[in-house]
Amino acid sequence: MKDIYILAIESSCDETSVSIVKNGKEDISTATNTQIDTHKLYGGVVPEVASRLHLENITLVIDEALKKANMKVSDMDAIAATYSPGLLGSLLVGLEAAKALSLVYDKPFIKVNHMMGHICANNIGNSLEYPLISLIISGGHTDLIYMENESSFKYIGQTLDDAVGECFDKVARILDMPYPGGPNIEKLAKMGKDSYPMPELLNDETCNFSFSGIKSYVNNLVHNTKQRGGEINKEDLACSFQNAVTKSLVMKTKKALEQYNVKNLCIAGGVASNSFIREELIKMCESINVKATVPLKQYCTDNATMIGAAAYILYKNNMFSDLDVNASSHEVLDYLNIN
Ligand code: KG4
Ligand code: ZN
Repeated sequence: MKDIYILAIESSCDETSVSIVKNGKEDISTATNTQIDTHKLYGGVVPEVASRLHLENITLVIDEALKKANMKVSDMDAIAATYSPGLLGSLLVGLEAAKALSLVYDKPFIKVNHMMGHICANNIGNSLEYPLISLIISGGHTDLIYMENESSFKYIGQTLDDAVGECFDKVARILDMPYPGGPNIEKLAKMGKDSYPMPELLNDETCNFSFSGIKSYVNNLVHNTKQRGGEINKEDLACSFQNAVTKSLVMKTKKALEQYNVKNLCIAGGVASNSFIREELIKMCESINVKATVPLKQYCTDNATMIGAAAYILYKNNMFSDLDVNASSHEVLDYLNIN
């Protein structure tokens, strides 16, 4: 079969990323402009600033990805972009750029759901064994998804309140750590001990999660300690928090794997770049004889390669999109069950 090259664009939050992906599995080139240093000044992503920066950078990043690959737009078989979920102004920049390329170069256009992208990051350099369970842990999501095959998605568990990445970010802010919080909590935790007692996280018969309780607990603990003139050991608190959250992720994921009797777990999303969480999930999988697949760290946080990997599955299923497709900030679950 002929090789399929897709130029993919991701701009749903604070990374302007463009990749050329071969056959949904091979990252031929990726160029990414990260806005982290700008948003750090404000303690989090400022949507208006993010969309302006995407606009300033999008053509430069597209050019860079093509140059790195030594390819032209005319060499592509399709153009893809994230259209949902994310920040509306940010999504629109990547989406409109992709639609313009598709129109001018007469290439099919493929809209991609960002969460499907996160899952498909596992296809880069890996072969998966279906049926499997995907655990998505990102800034906006904590989902367990049962997949009969590469294009069937059934939600079996979700967070009832905060997403795990959101919780890392909030705890980082409480501890006066800069944005983005997750990697900073991980660094602190490596230097600390698990010495602060933490509340037990949701331990029921479902595969759902809840993280708002631990977030409020850490907030109150820090606030009350400061009010009494005491001092918080940030390293120890980060370590205790990370351990408690990881324990919950491991417990619920194990429950899902056993309940659905699958032999492969895929881990995805920005929080999956946390080494401790990766290792603990892998250890749990080994203990029950399940294969754990985790993307390389650069494909866990937002990137266009994962969008190209997802777009390839849609390409194979003839799931092309019209050019009047709009961006959507809300969850649009129409990537579910392609077949
Ligand atoms: O997937 P992602 O890049 O964007 C979304 O789609 O949300 O995930 C971003 C989230 C942020 O909450 C960030 O703090 C978290 O992933 N994150 C981490 C780590 N790296 C990124 N959380 C814990 N440990 C990390 N090393
Ligand atoms: Zn993401």
